Amino acid sequence: MNWTTKVTELLHIKYPIIQGGLAYLSYADLAAAVSNAGGLGQITAMSLENEEQLRQEINKVRTLTDKPFGVNFAIGQHGRRYEHMVQVAIDEHVPVISVTGGNPKGVLEMVDGHNIKKLVLVAARRQAVKAMELGADAVMVVGHEGGGHIGRADMSTFVLTPQVNDDVDIPVIASGGIVDGKGLMAAMALGAEGIEMGTRFIATKECVDAHLVYKQAIIDADEEATTVIKRTLGMPARALKNKWTDTILELEKNGGDYGTLKNYISGEANRQYIHHGKVDEGFGWAGQGALRIQNIPTVDELFKMIISDATKIRHKWGWRVIKQ
Ligand SMILES: Cc1cc2nc3c(=O)[nH]c(=O)nc-3n(C[C@H](O)[C@H](O)[C@H](O)COP(=O)(O)O)c2cc1C
Repeated sequence: MNWTTKVTELLHIKYPIIQGGLAYLSYADLAAAVSNAGGLGQITAMSLENEEQLRQEINKVRTLTDKPFGVNFAIGQHGRRYEHMVQVAIDEHVPVISVTGGNPKGVLEMVDGHNIKKLVLVAARRQAVKAMELGADAVMVVGHEGGGHIGRADMSTFVLTPQVNDDVDIPVIASGGIVDGKGLMAAMALGAEGIEMGTRFIATKECVDAHLVYKQAIIDADEEATTVIKRTLGMPARALKNKWTDTILELEKNGGDYGTLKNYISGEANRQYIHHGKVDEGFGWAGQGALRIQNIPTVDELFKMIISDATKIRHKWGWRVIKQ
């Protein structure tokens, strides 16, 4: 069955499925696995320490796949500069970049004219329109179901996706809470030309940096398993609920400012959980879709499951149309 959409044509991929940036988790192995499976894998640049590391990951992806891949830039992290990292992506002629976390203008201007496709992750229609005006080739719209940073307005993927689709003239990629073929088809029905997933890719074999304890916590997740921290800092983000996030929420409730929260929400605390499995000494981002994740397949097996389920839905819809 043909899965050509505006997004597959834009990015030169087989299936309209993008692996979102995953802080401290998505480097060459995962990115290449996703691209080899027919989607777009991405290296998360801002988790790397310097330009040389980024260059190495880009080179490694190219040894593992000849398919297109992306480099993700989560900018706006407490003034950390990103220009030197973006320059590496330009110098290495990467096919796609994505940007999130702050005003994308600087990044988009830098890559303009370099034959690099530009994706912007947004969480509100106003941001989507701005991204389009700044020259984004497509917008990824993340609803509050999603893992990691989400929008301040708690808009769901189901509401935000069709709204943004009405507001912009560039392809929309739905993100947040999508883990399977049902999610892919629902996103398409809402007007999206593709999907982006984060949490689902953590529970795969090729997400080699995620500790098994973290993957298992995603598999064990129920309806209550995630919570939103950092809301009082104006940067809401969804994580697996544990004692650490309870402490963060308590500190937030008591008016704790950035200085008070800093060590609790740091990259170091994040890595203690996700790399070392120390569940009481840190936190791990995950979306509500964790509820529906029950296994740790290879990325290729995951793509086969998603496409097979989505194909069944397409057949079913065709049958219904014929019957009417
Ligand atoms: C562990 C984790 C880390 C993330 N890190 C980044 C990041 O560095 N850059 C980025 O653009 N998005 C990041 N995100 C957001 C994802 O790319 C994606 O938009 C989100 O996970 C979609 O929701 P889902 O988790 O329900 O699939 C992260 C998400 C998770 C779960």
